[in-house]
Amino acid sequence: MTSKKKIAVVTGGAGFIGSHMVDLLLYKNYHVRVIDNLAGGHKKNLKHNSNNPHLKFNNIDICKLKPNSKLFKNVDYVFHFAGVGDIVPSIENPVKYITNNVQGTVKVFRSRSLFKSKKIYLCCISILLWD
Ligand SMILES: NC(=O)c1ccc[n+]([C@@H]2O[C@H](COP(=O)([O-])OP(=O)(O)OC[C@H]3O[C@@H](n4cnc5c(N)ncnc54)[C@H](O)[C@@H]3O)[C@@H](O)[C@H]2O)c1
Repeated sequence: MTSKKKIAVVTGGAGFIGSHMVDLLLYKNYHVRVIDNLAGGHKKNLKHNSNNPHLKFNNIDICKLKPNSKLFKNVDYVFHFAGVGDIVPSIENPVKYITNNVQGTVKVFRSRSLFKSKKIYLCCISILLWD
């Protein structure tokens, strides 16, 4: 008897933390959908899995996700690592960082809730607050 593979979305899956999460999920027998616009990550971080039929890379900006994006359809878990986190540049250009990290996160939450994924795991996104 064959059991259906669970599906996970990893945003920022071509980045440092996300690519290791992809390794773990594939090892745990998940089907993995990566969403990454390669703003800071690299496809070479996923190269060793490039022949794995259970990994699908999607070069997409999370800020441009549509609420009904099919990428979240039938997904069991969402691991959200997509973000930019350079400290000094985020002080110099806060709007760019807030737009990417906050608005992007809202888009991920909106898509995820539409398809009622079981859980979303949120990595601590580096955002600087100032007064
Ligand atoms: N590495 C750490 O020690 C650490 C510590 C605290 C917080 N964080 C946060 O955890 C997250 C992941 O960290 P990391 O070290 O893996 O960073 P990383 O830069 O290696 O990975 C982030 C990934 O997100 C992608 N990305 C950025 N903006 C995107 C967008 N709009 N749409 C799609 N993809 C986008 C990048 O291309 C990259 O692959 C970041 O938000 C980071 O700020 C990391």
